[in-house]
Amino acid sequence: LRTQVAIIGSGPSGLLLGQLLTEAGVDNVILDRVSKNYILGRVRAGVLEEGTVGLLDEAKAGARLHAEGLPHDGFSLAFDGRDHRIDLHELTGRRVTVYGQTEVTRDLMQRREACGSLSIYDAADVAPHDVDGGSPFVTYTKDGIGHRIDCDFIAGCDGFHGTSRRALPEGAVRSFEKVYPFGWLGLLADVAPVSNELIYANHPRGFALCSMRSATRSRYYIQCPLDAKIEDWSDDRFWDELRRRLPAHHAEALTTAPSFEKSIAPLRSFVTEPMRFGRLFLVGDAAHIVPPTGAKGLNLAASDVHYLFGGLLEHYREGSDSGIDAYSQTALTRVWKAVRFSWWMTTMMHRFPDTSDFDQKIQEAELDYLTHSRAASMVLAENYVGLPF
Ligand code: FAD
Ligand code: DHB
Repeated sequence: LRTQVAIIGSGPSGLLLGQLLTEAGVDNVILDRVSKNYILGRVRAGVLEEGTVGLLDEAKAGARLHAEGLPHDGFSLAFDGRDHRIDLHELTGRRVTVYGQTEVTRDLMQRREACGSLSIYDAADVAPHDVDGGSPFVTYTKDGIGHRIDCDFIAGCDGFHGTSRRALPEGAVRSFEKVYPFGWLGLLADVAPVSNELIYANHPRGFALCSMRSATRSRYYIQCPLDAKIEDWSDDRFWDELRRRLPAHHAEALTTAPSFEKSIAPLRSFVTEPMRFGRLFLVGDAAHIVPPTGAKGLNLAASDVHYLFGGLLEHYREGSDSGIDAYSQTALTRVWKAVRFSWWMTTMMHRFPDTSDFDQKIQEAELDYLTHSRAASMVLAENYVGLPF
C-alpha cells in the first residue's frame, strides 16, 4: 500500500488531520491499535475553543457541533464560599463551545467514512521506519499478518503512550516534565447540570469542577489523591464530596443520578522538543500533555494540526517545505503558552499536599486579585478562550 501521509492514531488529532487532508485532496491512511468502538467509549475533554471549531468546520465535520454544542460566554470560579463569574465574552469578544471529545471523534469518523478514506483499526505493532531518509514507511500487523505502508510523511498522532515519540533516536529529542501530586476523579451522569455554566472550585478539601455535555448530562470532577482507587468511590461518596467542595447555593441545587462512567486521571505537564524528526511529525498528546484544568489538551492537538496541515498543503500545492520546516518551532511557541496557562490554573485551583501557610496565602491573594482586577481577569479569559493560531 502507498499513501501520501500515514497517520498513526485515530484520536482527535489524527482524525482532524486526516479529514483536512482528505478534503484538500491529499491521500492519507489512519492506523490505530484499538477498535473504533473502543475509541468512541473514551470520555475525555469537553470544551472547544473557537479556533478548534473553525478547524472542524474546515474539515466539514462541524454541522452537529453547531446544532448541539453549547456556546458558553463565561464560567465561574468558586472559592471562599462564593462565586465569581469570568465573563469571557465581555472580556474578549469570544466564547467557547461545550461539546464532548467523544462527539468530535464520532463526527470526524462519520465524515471520513462518507469520503471513503481508509482507516485501519485493531492494528498491532505499528512502527514508523526510515523517517530520517527519503522513503519512510509504516509497518503493522493485523490478524496475524504483517503489512507495510509506504508514504511521503508520517504523522505521529498516537497520544502520550504511543509508539511515534519512542521511535525517535535518543539524543534527538529533549523532554520537559512536571508531575502533580494528585489526580482527577471524573463522573458522567444523566442529570441536569448544577449550573448553566462551568464552575471551577477551589476548596480546602480540594478542587472540584462542574461541567456538562448537554442540558441533561453532567460531567463532574474532584481532585483526588494519587493512590485513590476507583472501587473506593461509590457514587454516593462522590456526590457527598462534590457537595462539600461547592458554595452552599450550588451544593443545595445539585441533583444526582447513578453514574454511567467514572475514571481517574493523573495530572502532568510534558513537552517534547522538537516535534519533528525527518519525515515524522509529532502531533497532539504524542508531543505534549497538559493537566486538564485549563481545558487545553484537545485544543492544543487541534492547533498542532492547523500548523502541520498548512505545511503539508504548502508542500503538495506549492512545492515549498518552509511550512513543514517551521512546524516544530511554530507549534511549540503556542504549546508552551498553553502549558504555562494550564500549570498556572492548576496551581491556583488545587490544594497541594504539604502547602506552607505562606503558599496558601499567596494562592488566596491570587484569587482575590484575579476577581478584583479587570486586567487579571482578562489574562485568564484570553488564555481560556484560546490564543490565536
Ligand atoms: P489521543 O486522544 O490519545 O489519541 C491517540 C490515538 O492513538 C488513540 O486512539 C490510541 O488508541 C492511538 N494509539 C496509541 N498508541 C498507538 C500505537 N502504538 N499504534 C497505533 N495507534 C496508537 N483534555 C481536556 O482538555 N479536558 C479533559 O477533561 C481531559 N480529560 C482527559 C482524560 C484522560 C484519561 C486523558 C488520557 C486525556 C484527557 N484530556 C483532557 C486530554 C485530551 O483528551 C487529549 O489532549 C486529546 O485526546 C489529544 O488527542 P490526540 O488525538 O492527540 O491523542
Ligand atoms: C471539562 C474538562 C476540563 O478539563 C475542563 O477544564 C473543562 C471541562 C469536561 O470534561 O467537560
